[in-house]
Parts: sequence; C-alpha cells; structure tokens
Amino acid sequence: MKIAVLPGDGIGPEIVAEAIKVLAALELGLEMESAPVGGAAYEAAGHPLPEATLKLAQGADAILFGAVGDWKYDTLDRPLRPEQAILGLRKRLGLFANFRPAICYEQLVGASSLKPELVAGLDILIIRELTGDIYFGQPRGRRQATDGHFPGADEAFDTMRYSRPEVERIARVAFEAARKRSKRVTSVDKANVLETFQFWKDIVTEVHKDYPDVELQHMYVDNAAMQLVKAPKAFDVIVTGNMFGDILSDEASMLTGSIGMLPSASLNDKKQGLYEPSHGSAPDIAGKGVANPLATILSAAMMLRFSLGQPQAADRIEAAVKAVLAQGLRTPDIHSEGTTRVGTVQMGDAVVRALG
Ligand code: NAD
Ligand code: IPM
Ligand code: MN
Repeated sequence: MKIAVLPGDGIGPEIVAEAIKVLAALELGLEMESAPVGGAAYEAAGHPLPEATLKLAQGADAILFGAVGDWKYDTLDRPLRPEQAILGLRKRLGLFANFRPAICYEQLVGASSLKPELVAGLDILIIRELTGDIYFGQPRGRRQATDGHFPGADEAFDTMRYSRPEVERIARVAFEAARKRSKRVTSVDKANVLETFQFWKDIVTEVHKDYPDVELQHMYVDNAAMQLVKAPKAFDVIVTGNMFGDILSDEASMLTGSIGMLPSASLNDKKQGLYEPSHGSAPDIAGKGVANPLATILSAAMMLRFSLGQPQAADRIEAAVKAVLAQGLRTPDIHSEGTTRVGTVQMGDAVVRALG
C-alpha cells in the first residue's frame, strides 16, 4: 500500500507529522512518499502542484494531505496560488465525494460553542460535492459590464453549474451512506432562487426513487445554516453542493468543539481517496507547535477504512483519540479549565501511547 504524503503549508507539516507517527506506530507496512504542494511547492518548483507531485498522487493508493495557503501568496496570479493545488488534485483525480463527519466526542461536549444538550451525542455526516459548482464552472473572469446596474464598469463573474451525472452520482453516494446510518438524508439547496439548485433538487428527488427505504428532506441553505445551530441532532446525512458544503462544514465543526477536530475523505469512483483535515493552514498559529493534530489523525483513520481496507486499524486510532481526550489532554483550541494543555507533538505522542 502506497501513500502519497503532501504536508503543504502553515500548520500542514506539523499536523501531518503527527498523523504519520500514529500510522507508523500501527506497523502496517505502509509505504509513504512525500512531495511538496501548495506554497511550499511554489517556492521549490515555481508551481503549487508540480507534475511530480501530481504523478505521485495519481500513482498512490491514498493521499494524506495537510493544508495549503498563506496570506503572502494572495497577490499571485490565481493559477499560481497554493489553493490551486488542492483544487487541482480534486479535479485531476476526480475526487467528487467529500465526506465530512461532525462527531461531538463525549469529552468535548463543553468545548462546543453550543449548549451541551444540543451537541451531546452529535454524529452527522456532511457529504459535499467536490468537483463541480461555482468552484469550477466556466466562464469566469473579469470584464467590462455591458448591462446591469453599471454598464461600462469593471465587473467580475463566476459560473455556477451542475450536470445531471454530477448530481446523480453524489445523490447516490448520500443515499448509500444513509443506508448504513439512520436512513435520513437532507439535501441542501437554494432552489427558490437558483436554477442550478432547482435542477439539483429535481435530480435528487428522482434518484431517491431508487432508495424508498431512505427518508429524504429538502432544505434551503439559509435555513440549514440556522437549523445547524438550533437543533443539529435533527440532521443525519446532509448532501449539498461544493460551496454550500464548504461553508456548512466549517459551521458544523464548531459543534464538535473545534475546527481542529473535523476530518475528511475525498473519494473518486475507484475509491481512491485524499484525506485531509477540513481546516486550512492556519497561518496565525503556524510554527508555534499548538495546532490540534486530531483532525488529521482522524483523517488517517478514514484513509485506513475507506482506501486501505484496514477497518480495525481505523477503529484503534479512533479509540486512541477518545482515550487521550478522556485523559484530559487538550490543545489550546479545545482547552478549558480542569484539562491539561498540550502542544501538537505531545498530543500526537499521547495518541501513539493510547494505541496500546
Ligand atoms: P483556517 O481553517 O486555516 O483557520 C481558521 C481558524 O481556525 C484560525 O484561527 C486557525 O488558527 C484555526 N485553526 C484551524 N485549524 C486548526 C487546528 N488544527 N488547530 C487549532 N486551530 C486551528 O482558515 P483561514 O484562516 O480562513 O485560511 C487560512 C489559509 O488556509 C488560507 O490560505 C486558505 O485558503 C487556506 N485553506 C486551505 C484549506 C485546504 O488546504 N484544504 C482549507 C481551508 C483553508
Ligand atoms: C476546504 C478549503 C478549500 C475549499 C480551499 C482552500 C480551496 O476551504 O477544503 O474546505 O474551499 O474547498
Ligand atoms: Mn473550507
């Protein structure tokens, strides 16, 4: 089993190092090879996703990814910006199905910004379509307006679009996932305003006919954002487009106590996967040794389960994470009175010890 390791920028290398430590401790004989990506690759090779890095990713059974991006690259031409690396990997590898589970561990109920009773026992799964929508739609760009409120003025535009097969396949992923859980899907759209999302809603409704055992509910995205903080446990599987999924998953991360707790898996139709925390490169805390590595460690567990056929090893990692939380160890993002504040490396070491 070959894993491409792409640490990236900011806290990326710090958190990926801890995940690798945990994987190594499991002694599964995994072969790992690293390559630069994002701003680090731009510095080293002049491009955020060099051909060699893409090749390594394409040839691997799975990819463990840290994060990319830094404010200092925000003025580069868009194709050279670090974020293009993760977007390019998703597109080039066809990683259309993004799983972002938001689970509130018992020990972190108090770390959530919501009242404990709202999040205790929370276990929802956000399924985000990852290779379509306004993220990738063409045309896009800048031009002079020929109509609208200010004809002749500079304007910028992006294109929101989805094709039938794109919506069908992500809908199937969601219904299949729901069958293994509580058999409830909420499809989140903006069909009241956007044609793209009326189309989305119609197709999800059609695909649902093949899954009569699963309950389907449609919800507008503005209401979904509100319901997520009002009564998050009312949801089970949420399926939505690329941009709404990006926003709602960051919102959902705070239900679990911290954005540093939310792992993710991005899969293609060959079950090849890229595994990364849902958060970014956190330039504000990079290099300080305080980043929470648990989202990345939990992403490694998802990798073992989804791409490497090692469900028991995945269970062991998840149990170890629960154990360190039960020991009271907390990185600053989830630290509170009565718990022990630890850094990134200490947290990783503790997970390794807890593997037993
Ligand atoms: P961010 O997720 O990097 O950080 C948001 C806030 O959460 C910050 O205060 C940060 O310190 C905190 N945070 C994030 N991860 C944490 C962790 N593991 N432990 C403790 N605290 C954590 O989002 P941002 O600040 O909006 O973006 C920073 C950069 O990351 C940007 O360049 C952005 O484009 C990029 N980004 C990359 C990815 C990715 O690589 N997939 C995802 C999101 C953002
Ligand atoms: C994420 C990030 C990315 C996204 C950015 C960095 C391109 O926010 O993985 O959630 O918007 O998908
Ligand atoms: Mn995001």
